[in-house]
Amino acid sequence: MAAKADEQAAERDDVDEIELGLLLEGVYRRYGFDFREYAPASLRRRVWRRAHAEGVSTISALQDRLLHDPACMERLLLDLSINVTAMFRDPTFYVAVREKVVPLLRTYPFTRIWVAGCSTGEEVYSLAILLLEEGVYERARIYATDINESVLDRARAGVFPLDKMREYTQNYIKAGGQRAFSEYYLAKYDGAQFQRSLVENVVFAQHNLVSDRSFNEFNVIVCRNVMIYFDRALQDRVHRLFYDSLAMFGVLALGAKESIRFSPFEDRYEDLDANERLYKKVS
Ligand SMILES: C[S@@+](CC[C@H](N)C(=O)[O-])C[C@H]1O[C@@H](n2cnc3c(N)ncnc32)[C@H](O)[C@@H]1O
Repeated sequence: MAAKADEQAAERDDVDEIELGLLLEGVYRRYGFDFREYAPASLRRRVWRRAHAEGVSTISALQDRLLHDPACMERLLLDLSINVTAMFRDPTFYVAVREKVVPLLRTYPFTRIWVAGCSTGEEVYSLAILLLEEGVYERARIYATDINESVLDRARAGVFPLDKMREYTQNYIKAGGQRAFSEYYLAKYDGAQFQRSLVENVVFAQHNLVSDRSFNEFNVIVCRNVMIYFDRALQDRVHRLFYDSLAMFGVLALGAKESIRFSPFEDRYEDLDANERLYKKVS
């Protein structure tokens, strides 16, 4: 009896895998979004969550809806590319940027910074504040990109939930913030509107790390909490993209759960701050 149940479960898994593969292929061919090399376990969970939310009972049925309804694709996109972020997220990262990256930036007349996978922009506004306080914002340009156009719209607007400001103020202080955090925003209804001047030197644009190419040469690339969703082969390809996009002695900044270790580019970097995952391109 138990053996029979196991057999049925295995069969369901096989069918699931086929359906998931077909859905991802269809999404890629119809919309150009390539999730075929995302880490499978979390991908499958998210696709199923979307199927349930749409009221369909198979992945094939979801595929049918996706191919014929772009609004459904938008919803899946939000599910697949989780956009969780925060201002001064992991504050010690910003302390390390202040202490170890800013001195390098001071040696250049002009710097280009790429924030890849910027989500709704909290990381970009945090970085802009830090650069401003360190007196290097004027000669920096930040390119903030994400696969998802709707999060970019929110990033451009620069309005973040007011009820988050207490947590963000704590983060800002821990990150070595030098002013009163409230100087940077105006409270409006339930939102905090951040100063427009913070994004004066920021270009927000859609860019897909899976399929789009390098578009400039950068002194710093920040890509935190994005590659955790990619499988190993895709991570390696994105590391190539970053390596090709970084100027010599440029800095690659990854998230706390990510590392350059075991990537084919490991030897091309040295640690600038191993704990905070800051790496300097040296060859
Ligand atoms: C968890 S958020 C990280 C946000 C921010 N970097 C941080 O650490 O707070 C991941 C972001 O990566 C984006 N993303 C996922 N796949 C991507 C891809 N192929 N190309 C560009 N961005 C992608 C998602 O849309 C999402 O906004």
